[in-house]
Amino acid sequence: YRIAVMASGRGSNFLALHAAASEGRLPVELVGVFSDKASAPVLERARERGVPAQSLSPKDHPDRLHFDLALLNAVAAVQPDLIVCAGYMRILDGRALTPWTGRMINIHPSLLPRHRGLHTHRRALEAGDAEHGASVHLVTAELDGGPVIAQAVVPVLAGDDEQRLAARVLEREHPLLIASVDALARGEVAWRDERLWHGESPL
Ligand code: GRF
Repeated sequence: YRIAVMASGRGSNFLALHAAASEGRLPVELVGVFSDKASAPVLERARERGVPAQSLSPKDHPDRLHFDLALLNAVAAVQPDLIVCAGYMRILDGRALTPWTGRMINIHPSLLPRHRGLHTHRRALEAGDAEHGASVHLVTAELDGGPVIAQAVVPVLAGDDEQRLAARVLEREHPLLIASVDALARGEVAWRDERLWHGESPL
């Protein structure tokens, strides 16, 4: 089961997937890492582990749609069964996503549908949320709006600041992402008839 990762940053989620795959805890092969930032540390993390990595620059394309189409064409070239967005920080044009419906997931650091978008930890603190966490969801044209596959919940503790809360969430993101990719790779969770199924029951 071939996984391509799209990322813009440090790549801790990529590293977690790669470790799980290479230690035999996840029945997948990581076949490529793709970024919109040539300076993204995740690219070096991938290359030093023998995973092909490339970046494309939005500056080289006339508009968002054409950049997204070019990037997803590069991704398509490695023939992934699933694209995992893990810290990919650009909004994708829905028209470029159409061929990938059901085959692209994102991990987002909030308990969706709460706190879509950016600065989720700060917003959870400001909202006085007692609980926070991460969500793995199918990517659709709606930002952070696709069907949720799985979530991890962490408590918001007295004295939490954005960094402490973010660290507590990130620590749970990694096993959440591994479990979600595992379920998709084994067909336990699947996209069928325009909706997500978990086994024989719709999610
Ligand atoms: C994670 O918090 C993820 O939820 C968000 O961006 C961060 C990516 O971290 N989308 P990393 O690059 O995988 O370490």
